[in-house]
Amino acid sequence: MTYLLEPLQTGALTLHNRLVMPPMATSKAEEDGKVSPDILNYYNEKSAGGYIGLIIIEHSFIQQAGKASHNQLSIADDSVIEKLTELSALIHRNGSKSVMQINHAGSGTDEKITGSVPVGASAVANPRKGTVPRELDQNELGEIVEAFAAAAARVKAAGFDGVEIHSAHGYFLNQFLSPLTNQRRDEYGGAIQNRIRLHLEVIAAVRKAVGEEFPILLRLGASDYTAGGTTIEESQFAAQQFERAGVSLIDISGGFNGFSIPGNSSQGYFAPLTEAIKKVVTVPVLLTGGITEPLAAEQLLAEGKADLIGVARAIFNDSTWASRAVKLLSEK
Ligand SMILES: Cc1cc2nc3c(=O)[nH]c(=O)nc-3n(C[C@H](O)[C@H](O)[C@H](O)COP(=O)(O)O)c2cc1C
Repeated sequence: MTYLLEPLQTGALTLHNRLVMPPMATSKAEEDGKVSPDILNYYNEKSAGGYIGLIIIEHSFIQQAGKASHNQLSIADDSVIEKLTELSALIHRNGSKSVMQINHAGSGTDEKITGSVPVGASAVANPRKGTVPRELDQNELGEIVEAFAAAAARVKAAGFDGVEIHSAHGYFLNQFLSPLTNQRRDEYGGAIQNRIRLHLEVIAAVRKAVGEEFPILLRLGASDYTAGGTTIEESQFAAQQFERAGVSLIDISGGFNGFSIPGNSSQGYFAPLTEAIKKVVTVPVLLTGGITEPLAAEQLLAEGKADLIGVARAIFNDSTWASRAVKLLSEK
């Protein structure tokens, strides 16, 4: 048995192998965010044969003010549940597990998309997008926490195996985590325990909404790779708190640098981050970024850099990637 093909149990979620298709926005949803025939075809093609242990569905907006782009999937009201149920059922029939990513874009969007002035932790320009958001007050933060919880309940109602909270790539929760965009003077700003206060409230509300057994994943922008940004030491602290709050799996990516590191195209370029996070948590840690070779995935697992491997663009570009990888490693 090779490492990539080993099963993995994380709370109530049992995967038949450690290969994950990470979330990738397709812009294939209907204009109102509902699942379209195009979305069903796309995920049918990617999950065919059940070679991928876990498919994480692209980010979906929890409310209109947090919509990131046109034709993004919506999880913002109950009317989306019916079609999403078809999507989860299709992936299950093909033999994979599936989790949906839920997101609020914060200042990572613009008024043309949302129809309102984008909101955020502080009124400072988003380093990736340039948008200057309106700073939210604490009552409004409570409403967003509730919107995350309601979205998670819909994910569960639609038959998915878990829900992933997005706090990477410079979106809303990442804007609270990172000192680049969080300059608040209340208890949601300043020290790291304050900058993750909102995350902990979201996790608690989501847990209450989905019950004790339902897996909650969290995608963490563990470093901004910028002076004055989030540090790995802070992310280690954050990951420990998230585990304590009931998160079942930590999914590592970048912060305001996005999902890549300029000038670094090595296989698994975020491995130093996952390795550091793995030292301080007991829940599984997922590594994604730059992995295109099955043997490189195998090596990263053998070296203990992560518990699961995400392959995004290579699978996006070639729907036979997973079947070829599984065959290659089975013959080893
Ligand atoms: C077109 C595209 C859309 C993406 N959309 C999302 C998304 O919705 N949510 C997310 O967390 N990451 C998103 N990502 C990042 C991927 O999940 C992944 O982290 C990134 O592509 C690096 O992995 P790779 O080198 O295997 O492609 C997206 C990446 C691409 C290329």
